[in-house]
Amino acid sequence: MCGIVGIVGHTPVAPLIVDALKRLEYRGYDSAGVATIENGNLARRRAEGKLINLEKRLKSEPLDGTIGIGHTRWATHGVPNETNAHPHFSNGVAIVHNGIIENFAELREELKKDGYTFDSQTDTEVVAHLVARELARGARPVDAAFRALKRLEGAFALAIMFKGDEDLIVGARNGPPLAVGHGEGEMFLGSDAIALAPFTNSITYLEDGDWAVIRRNLIQIFDMAGEPVERKRQQSVGTSFLVDKGNHRHFMEKEIHEQPEVISHTLAHYLDFVGGQAKSFDMPFDFAKIDRLAISACGTAYLAGLVSKYWFERYARLPVDIDIASEFRYREMPLGKDSAALFVSQSGETADTLASLRYCRKAGIPIGAIVNVRESTIARESDGIFPTLAGPEIGVASTKAFTCQLSVLASLAVKAASARGKISADEEKALVRQLSEAPRYASQVLKLDKQIEKVARELSQVRHVLYLGRDTNYPLALEGALKLKEISYIHAEGYAAGELKHGPIALIDETMPVIVIAPHDRIFDKTVSNMQEVAARGGRIILITDQKGAQHATVKTMETIVLPDVPEMIAPLIYALPIQMLAYFTAVFMGTDVDQPRNLAKSVTVE
Ligand code: AGP
Repeated sequence: MCGIVGIVGHTPVAPLIVDALKRLEYRGYDSAGVATIENGNLARRRAEGKLINLEKRLKSEPLDGTIGIGHTRWATHGVPNETNAHPHFSNGVAIVHNGIIENFAELREELKKDGYTFDSQTDTEVVAHLVARELARGARPVDAAFRALKRLEGAFALAIMFKGDEDLIVGARNGPPLAVGHGEGEMFLGSDAIALAPFTNSITYLEDGDWAVIRRNLIQIFDMAGEPVERKRQQSVGTSFLVDKGNHRHFMEKEIHEQPEVISHTLAHYLDFVGGQAKSFDMPFDFAKIDRLAISACGTAYLAGLVSKYWFERYARLPVDIDIASEFRYREMPLGKDSAALFVSQSGETADTLASLRYCRKAGIPIGAIVNVRESTIARESDGIFPTLAGPEIGVASTKAFTCQLSVLASLAVKAASARGKISADEEKALVRQLSEAPRYASQVLKLDKQIEKVARELSQVRHVLYLGRDTNYPLALEGALKLKEISYIHAEGYAAGELKHGPIALIDETMPVIVIAPHDRIFDKTVSNMQEVAARGGRIILITDQKGAQHATVKTMETIVLPDVPEMIAPLIYALPIQMLAYFTAVFMGTDVDQPRNLAKSVTVE
């Protein structure tokens, strides 16, 4: 998604804005731009592609000015080129925008009738002209911005600057996040706290429907009725350090290797390893009193939820409905008074997940959120949050957040099983013990990187891959396919192994590798039969298993990746690593932009 930065400062702001935009690169983008007020006039530089292109432009044509706004654009309306890059101008107004103005077409026609002409194909330019038209009608800048905001429908975060007022930026938020950063004699605006970290950790997040008047020594926040509102000023955690790659080639590689540590931190937050039980912590609902748990999320977060369905139902005997959020939000699921809802989101800003949360809010059921960003919208709108302690995840492909989501969900499943009286104290001790071993096993699996890299070299030669798994390895098959396709651009599908005969087996031939995720568990032999069906048709099998599985897999494989024998419950946390590494190395061989794959955004804050 797009990134927004604004500074009302006292030194030249253009280079500071570009540095802040760099911290938003992880959100995904395809062009960028900066505008300042230079010698009393609006001035801007924009460039297609990566920020390095904008930096080159600024080097050859520097921008002066101590007030400015900047933007990294992820194209929604209009192709990614310089003309469509933000900031957009109109008669002394400069604007940057994240989101979608849903009524832009009718506003565009209305403005054209008033004589406004459009340089770009974007919805954003409409807003610049709306504000300019209010100025032309005699409104002062702040009033002009407010009147224009009231005409907008859809999701937007905006920053607006005005020629003639070098001590004013108007910010507005309705959907995508926007935060105000408090400085000394200077103020900041950004899409999240990570962007503002070099300037300040003192942050105020705007709420949906808020708009803010930002001056060097004054912040005023209003609602859409124009009434002043108070918003919490907080110290943002975990973002004061500059996130960098350390000694890794990519953020994704670094984040894969951080998993033993962050899984350990996350589990320790929820489990008492010494006492052998789930800790007591604030709960938005009582697992003993609900008869149904609705879980909803998108992408990898959804797949973490899908794994947890097996855990909640197997250990806590708690029925779980699991939905991808873009379906959940429209299917009008009947939710009873004894239902509860759980939303999983790394960013805490995913539009479909937030909309699903709001559906449950309207239904009056208690809501928990598993998030990696505690100040996020989903966190703020839930009744209780279960943080993943993954630290900032910069790579667009989710890795450490996924295993931390699994860590939280496994801990909650243990807590639910105990609260519902479905496991004894000794059984709870055993499960907590198993989970406590996950970081150690994860560290061991990371040492398989050379073998996995060798397999990835083979994968980089093919165009289609099938992943198979059963039980909790079925969501992992889906996740493995998602990881591979999103960063290497190789088509991949995940399937329940038992479904092979119901269609996908028609795909099997020597050109398509089949990756089978199968620890030696109680249904291993069923998966061996599926592998034999694949082998009988010339299919090439890459088996990810453990020692016992390798011994009992009576079928020829192209490669067998042998993981440590791990307890059944923690297998998803451990088997996630080889599928992440496989996708990572394949993408490196493919030469793709591993951390910012084409067309993707780290946080999808629009529908
Ligand atoms: C996963 O690698 C992708 N980046 C994507 O599927 C992601 O998991 C999904 O967009 C959900 O994002 P969220 O966790 O921030 O809500």
